[in-house]
Amino acid sequence: MRQWRMDAGGQTLALTSDGGLPAVVYWGARLPEGEDLAQLVAAARQDLTGGMIDQLPALTLTPEAGRAFPGQPGLMVAEADGTPFQPQFTFDRAEQSGTQLSLISCAEGLTLTHHLTAHTTGVFTLQTVLEADRDIRLHWLAAPVLPASQLADHMVDVHGRWVREFHLNRVSWTPGIRLRESRTGRSGQEHPPYLILPEAGCTNTQGTAFALHYAWSGGHRMVAEELPDGRRQVQFGAPVGAQTKPSRRFASAELVAIWSGTGLNGIATAFQHDIRDRVITWPNPARPRPVHYNCWEAIYFDHSLADLSDIADHAAALGAERFVLDDGWFGRRDDDTSSLGDWGIDRRKWPDGLQPLIAHVQSLGMTFGLWFEPEMVNPDSDLYRAHPDWVLGPADQVTGRNQLVLDLSRAEVRDYLFKAVSAILSAHDIDYIKWDHNRLLPVVDVAQTHGAYDLFDRLRAAHPGVEIESCASGGGRIDGGILARTHRVWLSDCIDAHERLRMQHDAALFLPSCVTGSHVGALHSHTTGRALPMAFRAWVAAQRHFGFEMDPRKISDADAAILRDVTAWYKANRDWMVAGTILRLDSADPTVTAEMQLAEGGARFVVFAGQNAQTVQTLPRPLRLTGLDPAARYRISLRNGADRPPQSRGPNALKDGPLTLTGRALMAQGILLPVAWPATMWVVEGERL
Ligand code: DGJ
Repeated sequence: MRQWRMDAGGQTLALTSDGGLPAVVYWGARLPEGEDLAQLVAAARQDLTGGMIDQLPALTLTPEAGRAFPGQPGLMVAEADGTPFQPQFTFDRAEQSGTQLSLISCAEGLTLTHHLTAHTTGVFTLQTVLEADRDIRLHWLAAPVLPASQLADHMVDVHGRWVREFHLNRVSWTPGIRLRESRTGRSGQEHPPYLILPEAGCTNTQGTAFALHYAWSGGHRMVAEELPDGRRQVQFGAPVGAQTKPSRRFASAELVAIWSGTGLNGIATAFQHDIRDRVITWPNPARPRPVHYNCWEAIYFDHSLADLSDIADHAAALGAERFVLDDGWFGRRDDDTSSLGDWGIDRRKWPDGLQPLIAHVQSLGMTFGLWFEPEMVNPDSDLYRAHPDWVLGPADQVTGRNQLVLDLSRAEVRDYLFKAVSAILSAHDIDYIKWDHNRLLPVVDVAQTHGAYDLFDRLRAAHPGVEIESCASGGGRIDGGILARTHRVWLSDCIDAHERLRMQHDAALFLPSCVTGSHVGALHSHTTGRALPMAFRAWVAAQRHFGFEMDPRKISDADAAILRDVTAWYKANRDWMVAGTILRLDSADPTVTAEMQLAEGGARFVVFAGQNAQTVQTLPRPLRLTGLDPAARYRISLRNGADRPPQSRGPNALKDGPLTLTGRALMAQGILLPVAWPATMWVVEGERL
């Protein structure tokens, strides 16, 4: 009998092997140093009763069909000729180095390795690698399988669609399987690969929760299963059939695992810090997140140097620091029916190339970013006419947004794309790529994702100073795999602040503010038609990586003044917010969506409380803060009291000046905000005295 223990932040994983594949016997709050692992293993042993075989099949890191495991196995393989077989593994050895543990088991010419790593950001990452002494076929390979708590009555996974990303689903645990499979070749809006398992009583600010994220951009399959005996398991892996060829080596992506004893905010904190501090590699970590201007919703494909120079003047005057030229600058791209793949500058629109615009943008003190969609091709393009065979999937497939996907498993396709994108980057002073991906893939194949990653990696190596934004019709590719290669995600094509407030709140369970792009849109949202006040639009965008995306020439003077004010506030506060943590608040009023952003070390914070709809409350309910030092005193002040409606006529203290209260009072009693109209964002700043 062998045992191992790993600790990451506040959590512990304990594992054992009785000679077979290792199994997790404990995942939860960090155990005391002296915990007797043999006793822990003994304590995890379960009884038997009627209707069962005479030994409980182990729920190992890869549950084995060949050992009568009564649920979904973690591995399904066949010989190269298609004959299935069910290996029974024997534990061989453990290799430990620092915070990494590799557990190696063997069977029938196969070697199964489970890699487990404890990170200083407080997360575990887990990966399964299968090697064979011959070519075999893989039907299913799960990342290391963790037992799920039996003390939960529901799980929370993530669903969405174009313009409505990061919608949280609460699904009850029942005997049997909750299966989600993303077969669109992207991590996707529909089933992003995130799962939270809260125990009963868990809220944003208190209670116990577990979370898993499959860090892969090419789709996934998730199985959350309650076995007939009551045990629960969660498996994540590539979609079934995504390993299309026989091979001698297969690997799952990394599974990120987090336990929290401080409610959903413990999950959010670990994910946010892990993505910001471990997953992403920043070209220049010290560089403040620049305020963006993106021209898409201002001009779409209608490019001209005169218009864009004028727009750049206005954007710079509002405070923009990076100007991003979106779709429409290449080939003969007047709409979305042509030219993807032809990455040469459209001389009809840009007779002197992009340099005059770049020079103008830079003369205004902004840097320049450019849109690409490298993985795609339009049938109406020179590239397609020259290489129709470079397309992924069947010849008679249906297009999506009039486009097809290039087969990135082919080295010559990647070489062409590398050269085409690299040539533009080399010839111009560009510090940013908005990398789009606007159609669902016609087939699932891990080779496509490996090919895309290779292209990202080569371009990043050749142009290390360039930051990249991951966009896929908005938030269709937001995962740890892509964030290891990019620096920002376009959360959604919907920049209606009403929708964004909710999306950003839920996405904060997984994403830090520094990567979450958020833009101030036009008065009338282009995706909902809703008209919202500038103050609300601006403050919602200022919660994350801030920018503008409208025609700034069409903004009223009054709105421009508001936007300049919020932009100045963002610039004054972004550095500590980016280094801090977003904590979701438990609002007792469902029409109020509220969060705190707490500085590292806790010396300051800001509360954003968004009134999303007309409330049924006559007077606002108290809003409890979180994460403060109970004994410390804090001065709190309302930044934008001027946004109150005429009906706010009482002596609410925050309207009249700062208050000084202890952390205990702020967390136990909470704060009382003034009454608000829908589409108001209260901004309360706090400072530890
Ligand atoms: C979809 C993106 O999400 C938009 O922001 C924009 O870049 C368009 N593609 C351009 O075609």
